[in-house]
Amino acid sequence: MKPLLSVKNLRMEFGGLVAVKDVTFDVKKGEFIGLIGPNGCGKSTTFNCISGLLQQTSGTVEVFGEDVSDKRPDQIQKLGMTRTFQHTRLWKDMTVIENMLVPPRKQFSPNPFLSLFRGRSRPSEKERLANAFAVLDQLEVPHMAHNLASELSGGQSKLVDIGRSMMGSPDLLLLDEPVAGVAGPLAMKIFTNLRELVDTTGISVLVIEHNMDFILRQGVDRIVVMNEGEVLMVGTPEEVKSNRAVIEAYLGGAADGGEEE
Ligand SMILES: Nc1ncnc2c1ncn2[C@@H]1O[C@H](COP(=O)(O)OP(=O)(O)OP(=O)(O)O)[C@@H](O)[C@H]1O
Ligand SMILES: [Mg+2]
Repeated sequence: MKPLLSVKNLRMEFGGLVAVKDVTFDVKKGEFIGLIGPNGCGKSTTFNCISGLLQQTSGTVEVFGEDVSDKRPDQIQKLGMTRTFQHTRLWKDMTVIENMLVPPRKQFSPNPFLSLFRGRSRPSEKERLANAFAVLDQLEVPHMAHNLASELSGGQSKLVDIGRSMMGSPDLLLLDEPVAGVAGPLAMKIFTNLRELVDTTGISVLVIEHNMDFILRQGVDRIVVMNEGEVLMVGTPEEVKSNRAVIEAYLGGAADGGEEE
């Protein structure tokens, strides 16, 4: 079976800067994958190339078996892939549930009149509302539905952002540092919920995380380890933990200890 996401020899240059040199990995159906690497190693740039925000310098990206090099972000999204951004983007003067119901950017029908003829392919407002509450339930924050987004803590905003990304029932979810700045216990809970989401729905999740020690303990299936624009290795947490190059580059020999930030 073809992977849901296949990245091959991806390279992205910004003028003289090579942000991504040579990145190859794939994500299969029902996999929960971590993408990890130090600041500036090219993780978000890799996401930007996959999601169509950037046109890569060379290499290929296939989403659901389709080469998406020439596709716009909204076209890639329609294939069934959603992403979040490193910096949470919520409408601060709208409530949580209102934020959940805003279609992702560029997902509005260009002509509202034409959408009347689309029959039942789009869910009704009522169905979307029920779906939004179901997602908030799944993330265990239904009580926040009517809070203004401006009242949320950083961690709660991250949760709502993840919730928003789940609204279109994507088959592939790309999350850029969903727990950065989130307190330890909530961060672990978010990962537990993501694991459960993968196991119960069969979707695939690719999640960027900067803390190696943290990701090693979150039950992901595989970890893609990046360094300076390249993939250092891809393996299970156990394999990553015992890889000498990774230990030297990231863990300073302390694979079993340490605290998350
Ligand atoms: N649009 C851009 N124009 C020019 N340089 C960029 C652009 N986007 C990223 N870069 C540079 O590319 C390199 C990789 O950045 P990127 O944001 O992909 O790293 P990252 O691994 O996500 O880092 P972090 O952990 O800090 O989020 C950095 O040197 C960054 O400054
Ligand atoms: Mg980043």
